[in-house]
Amino acid sequence: MSRFVVNGGRVLCGSVEVQGSKNSALPLLAATILTQGENVLYNCPALSDVDAALRILRFTGCRAEQYRSTVLVSSDSLNRSDIPDELMREMRGSVIFLGALLARFGRAQLGFPGGCELGPRPIDMHLSALRKLGADIRERHGVLDCTAPEGLHGAKLSLSFPSVGATENIILAAVTADGTTTLTNAAREPEICDLCEFLNKSGARIWGAGEGTIVIDGVKELHAVEHTVIPDRIVAATLMSAAAATGSEITLTGVIQSHLGAVISAFDEMGCEIHSSGGELEFKAPSRLSPPQTIRTMPYPGFPTDAQAPLMAATCLCEGTSVFVENIFENRYRHVDELTRLGSDIKVNGRVAVVKGVRRLYGAAVEAQELRGAAGLIVAALAAEGRSEVSGICYLERGYERFEQVLCSLGADVYKV
Ligand code: UD1
Repeated sequence: MSRFVVNGGRVLCGSVEVQGSKNSALPLLAATILTQGENVLYNCPALSDVDAALRILRFTGCRAEQYRSTVLVSSDSLNRSDIPDELMREMRGSVIFLGALLARFGRAQLGFPGGCELGPRPIDMHLSALRKLGADIRERHGVLDCTAPEGLHGAKLSLSFPSVGATENIILAAVTADGTTTLTNAAREPEICDLCEFLNKSGARIWGAGEGTIVIDGVKELHAVEHTVIPDRIVAATLMSAAAATGSEITLTGVIQSHLGAVISAFDEMGCEIHSSGGELEFKAPSRLSPPQTIRTMPYPGFPTDAQAPLMAATCLCEGTSVFVENIFENRYRHVDELTRLGSDIKVNGRVAVVKGVRRLYGAAVEAQELRGAAGLIVAALAAEGRSEVSGICYLERGYERFEQVLCSLGADVYKV
């Protein structure tokens, strides 16, 4: 198992470009199933999750290749609508292929996404919406057998919670359905807008992306397009956390500031100076951080749950106490015990974590157990005095592209073994 060795305590400096968004790239890759011709996706990060999505596409008969940050996908030769269990398990986000396969074939058969490192991750909202769009879905021995012999049709849908994945699945299923679909309480994340922009360029008729109500007029067919994946706002938040924790001044390029509103507010309250224009974000940390107001993770435009662990790592060094309330996932504090090994003082009670700032963190061996937790541990290790070893890097590599190189380019002393 690979790990990062981090010699912490170095101040970061310089400029770095933020990679493309993983959570945008995955639904875009699923969307290529619906289009005719060859799609070109630019700014697509080279990540293990993206690789898993490309393998799913190839399994179903698509041509899918990645050259650095450019991905070419043609689904003209698509010839099967099942996804084997081992591919489904590799990436939990693979459930978004369900809506696309159903729309293209009128059937889909895939493994049930298993238990999860963030707590239970049910897909009840996905399934109930797809049923309302006309799919017959049976669950047998961990396999979802979905058919829509008469094709999918538009419907009025409302989510009980603005689930990102369910919103994406519904959009993918409804975009070529017969008639109009209205989805209320839809997720408003920038990744939803990116998906709808791609689909609308391909010939779809979708209105309201980024708002609570999305209206989709089904169209007969979609064509391939060229599209640039939006920058990854969580990677940007992680790099800002690293700079905050190490008292550094860095510049991020290729960011969309409006996607980072709640994150920037938190760093503002912590005393960081942030100037942003034209896709560049200059970030300067104070010599000692102040605690932010209570951080409550919320659906967008609230504070993103994915940035909770990296920000928490920075707040370990605040002058005072910070409070976190995790509202999206039940089990998203698995990094806390490991942060404690580095010398932080954190107490968790249910959804609430209380972080009492300390003056220093100290290098130690820690183990990541999920993607964003891994990023949080690296942020803390960068700030800790001495040498840390962060294992469980396979989780990090699901979402962060060549992260050790990105950090080294900012002057950090990090290497992978
Ligand atoms: C996506 C992101 C993930 C991010 C999350 C929340 C991708 C690939 N992943 O995950 O990085 O942390 O959004 O911003 O884009 N839920 C149900 N039933 C359902 C669906 C969801 O109960 O049918 C619950 C989940 O268990 C969770 C909450 O709703 O507690 C939010 O989940 P959701 O927004 O669906 O997250 P994902 O799409 O899985």
